[in-house]
Amino acid sequence: MIELFKGVFEERGKLLTRNLVPGKKAYGEDTYKIEGVEYRSWNPNRSKLGAAIRRGLKTMPIKPGSKVLYLGAATGTTTSHVSDIVGEKGEVYAVEIAAHSMKSLLQLCEVRQNVIPILADAGKPQDYEEVGDVDVVFEDVAHPEQAEMMIKNARFLKKGGYGMIAIKSQSIDVTKKPAEIYARVEKELEGTFEIVERIDLEPFEMDHLFLLLRKK
Ligand SMILES: C[S@@+](CC[C@H](N)C(=O)[O-])C[C@H]1O[C@@H](n2cnc3c(N)ncnc32)[C@H](O)[C@@H]1O
Repeated sequence: MIELFKGVFEERGKLLTRNLVPGKKAYGEDTYKIEGVEYRSWNPNRSKLGAAIRRGLKTMPIKPGSKVLYLGAATGTTTSHVSDIVGEKGEVYAVEIAAHSMKSLLQLCEVRQNVIPILADAGKPQDYEEVGDVDVVFEDVAHPEQAEMMIKNARFLKKGGYGMIAIKSQSIDVTKKPAEIYARVEKELEGTFEIVERIDLEPFEMDHLFLLLRKK
């Protein structure tokens, strides 16, 4: 088994995280026992962070013990793997606006003590100010104001703290070419962040760009 990053593994071509709650699956994923330890399969077709790792992400700021603000948690597919990586000493503040997704997310939080659910609009960080300083802001919201949201949530990061954003060009403007939208979004982000890595998520996700950012 290869450890790609702290807490992220590869075995026989599969991406894996060590299951924080052995015996419990989060979304019907396969589990494997390797030398007495249970791992969960991380499907890059269902997770943009998984896809970014598969597409060659070089720096992984989410580590054991990290405090992560996760925007657009949905039912918690990727959040569950982030929860595995940060482990018992880390925390994941999972923000989601849709009440129907929150129902499943709450079930995940019952099982995973390090995930804290927040029913809120990621465009209004003043509503969850109590989160305090975090190491990483991760954003995967299918929303036209993705860049603005990331900038607003940079208030939770210290200088040098990391942002990760999956940009879905179709959610921003279906009439424009993805490259045009990415250039516009990057320009907007560059006021607040240095762009450290750019990763095209194809073939896992069409018309998605993943950016690793560092707060200026
Ligand atoms: C692509 S899905 C996220 C998938 C999830 N990150 C994963 O990998 O498991 C986008 C999510 O963003 C949520 N969303 C959209 N606008 C939002 C907002 N303003 N605040 C918080 N969540 C939002 C949607 O309800 C949806 O659940």
